[in-house]
Amino acid sequence: MFLYQFEDLRSAMLEDATAGLSRDQKSLSSKYFYDKRGSELFEAICELDEYYLTRSEIKIMERHIREICSSLGKRCLLVELGSGSSSKTRLLLKNMDDLTAYVPVDISGKFLQQTVNELEKEYPALKVMPVVRDYTQPFDIPDIPDVRRTVLYFPGSTIGNFPKAQARAFLERLCSILSVGDGLLIGVDALKDVSVLEAAYNDSQGITAAFNKNILIRLNKELEANFDINRFTHKAWFNSEEKRIEMHLISDTEQTVTIRDMPFHFREGETIHTENSCKYSDEDFRSLVAGLFEIEHMWMDSSAFFYVYYLRKR
Ligand code: AVI
Repeated sequence: MFLYQFEDLRSAMLEDATAGLSRDQKSLSSKYFYDKRGSELFEAICELDEYYLTRSEIKIMERHIREICSSLGKRCLLVELGSGSSSKTRLLLKNMDDLTAYVPVDISGKFLQQTVNELEKEYPALKVMPVVRDYTQPFDIPDIPDVRRTVLYFPGSTIGNFPKAQARAFLERLCSILSVGDGLLIGVDALKDVSVLEAAYNDSQGITAAFNKNILIRLNKELEANFDINRFTHKAWFNSEEKRIEMHLISDTEQTVTIRDMPFHFREGETIHTENSCKYSDEDFRSLVAGLFEIEHMWMDSSAFFYVYYLRKR
């Protein structure tokens, strides 16, 4: 197994966190949710009744797996961005018998290692080449012989976690690492009733709250910060102008928190904006990718809660 560690993630995290907490609207990047604990909490979110995204996407994948695999074609190099536990990928791996190699790319090395160990047991013949990497930063696809087409796999509506302008820039970058005819298989959460959306991000068991607060625990552990997580409350709401769910951590009191002796002052009720989760109509998504990719297929579930697109680079 090959692990590629290209940068010191911790110093980038310190820079991002101090810059984000110095803004008028304090913010932390949602990519820092995903240490081992955060990744486990996210897996638990995916099982929640209220969190329809994962179930809807899996239903679509299961129903259309033959058509999806035949779109990807033979001798494909499947590169998954932010692979987590690769649960949806297993459906692809099981149904593509001539896959050349699978490259999971994930920021969490420990979680990735665990997934790779499991996959190597389940699919002994499969060539797995993990890359420990923040995929939001430029990276090279490993050069592997006998590949007919590279397909990037970006499930889960993680594209929604980029603000819209950044989503376009990110898709442009993905496009630039692909050759004409290569593909992008991508899951996108659809616009829907606000009550359904808000329930999915304010679950009754408090798992999403624990996931959100884990970012503060992580800053405490890794950047010597001193957040008292009991003095922050999780809340998520739909921003109808931006068509996105926003997750925030609300300071319950006036307080000062330090990160490596740098003070950050909070007013009572002031929030840290930790995540955007943009929702797309089919029309909005088509205009997002226009000029970069052609939409070869679009599949959706019976409630039209979620879309899976297969895009081909023009
Ligand atoms: C990973 N991402 C698509 C999830 C989402 O729905 O935006 C992360 C998440 N945040 C809260 N719950 C799940």
